[in-house]
Amino acid sequence: MNKRALILAIAVLTAGPALAADPATIDWSKIPAVKVPLFYPGQSSYEWLRSDAHKGASKETQRGDACLSCHDEDDAEKDIGNKLVQGGALEPTPVKGKNGFVELSVQAAYDARNAYFRYQWKTHGKAGIEYPYYRFDGKEWKVYGGPRLDKAVQEGKQPPIYEDRLSMMLDDGKVPGFAEQGCWLTCHDGERDLKSATKEEVAANAAMQAYKKTDVRKYLPETRTNPSDWKTGKSVEEIAKIKAAGGFADLIQWRAHRSNPVGLADDGYVLEWRNFDSGKKMFDSNLDKDTKQPKFMYDAKKFGAKAATAKQVGKKESFLIKGKNAVPFDPKAGWKEGDMLPRYVLTKDVEGSAGDNKATGSWKKGMWTVVLTRPLGLTNDDDKTLKDGGIYHVGFAVHDDNITTRGHQVSFVRTLGLGAKADIQAVMLP
Ligand code: HEC
Repeated sequence: MNKRALILAIAVLTAGPALAADPATIDWSKIPAVKVPLFYPGQSSYEWLRSDAHKGASKETQRGDACLSCHDEDDAEKDIGNKLVQGGALEPTPVKGKNGFVELSVQAAYDARNAYFRYQWKTHGKAGIEYPYYRFDGKEWKVYGGPRLDKAVQEGKQPPIYEDRLSMMLDDGKVPGFAEQGCWLTCHDGERDLKSATKEEVAANAAMQAYKKTDVRKYLPETRTNPSDWKTGKSVEEIAKIKAAGGFADLIQWRAHRSNPVGLADDGYVLEWRNFDSGKKMFDSNLDKDTKQPKFMYDAKKFGAKAATAKQVGKKESFLIKGKNAVPFDPKAGWKEGDMLPRYVLTKDVEGSAGDNKATGSWKKGMWTVVLTRPLGLTNDDDKTLKDGGIYHVGFAVHDDNITTRGHQVSFVRTLGLGAKADIQAVMLP
């Protein structure tokens, strides 16, 4: 046993359950901050990177060379992001005024129980704490608001509304190619907002039928017989084998609307799709599929009204939370045109692997500070296990200014070490 492991073992034995740090009391000024540049990637998918359009680099990318082996100049990320965001072959629907570059500060620490990550970044505008609503038009409940890449938003027919997010994708060396090419392994033509496959194409595809999915999301190359074609999915049995061998990437997402209000970050993994971990997560659709009406409304005694109005969007804390301000929807409550209810209802009562990650975020002076707590030693079949001495490959993304899908700023892959040499070194807490 090395010295650190010994100290840790003694600490565990002597201190017991109280050993986990309260993340709010960690002295972050003592933990090094690594500045990770994030850039707007447009539609630079797995397929584009391997095509002749990726000039002079298609062959190298196909054989698995690291992105950073070429894109290593100072300001490489800034230059790519600022160029792509303006529109062109890789961005058919540019968002007016969008920033191409974000600097993400990452700090990491750990103790015998948990790893702690502190992220900071400046937002382009105000904090995006809202998610689209359902609005009653006098007859039906229809979606109100949307992300900036949506056609209706770009045409001014819907207001831009979407939550800010911070994502971390993580591999422990078991995903072939992740160490070199990171998140780009998961980013494919056919996904939403990326030459989206049509509903009909997805419905007609045997693999997607077997996966019980109605759209294409992030997937890993190993899950397809032809990694450049989402239609060529392997069988459910083959995918289960890859999962059992650890060939998936962990995906942790802190969400300003759907997880932050209950002090959590969601827990997912990328394999044949962008899946959520098993168990019960913190947010759930607020639409009853059969009645096409919301499932929950505000408790008027707590919120001041049973519904919100368009004027309140972004002003009032409108999170709809079970056990706090949500009550079952009453269809006879006298709904008027313009009444609005959140599309998602939140809960603190998470269960199983889906509830592993805690997180708190606060927005001050134009900057988010998010602290994520992830337990060490997780043994779920859909989690990567963080442990003392472990080295991982990580990619980061920020969704900022009312946008989703590919409208994020992303990082080239970095290494994370828990008490081990890496780009981002998690410091063991005293
Ligand atoms: C062999 C070197 C090499 C490798 C490896 C490589 N690239 Fe490139 N990449 C280039 C060159 C050179 C260009 C510029 C091509 C041009 O000017 O049209 C480029 C362009 C790009 C662009 C478009 C930028 C623009 O100005 O239009 C993106 C995005 C990109 N690369 C991402 C990646 C990612 C992600 C990876 C890893 C999966 C990667 N590259 C791997 C050399 C490389």
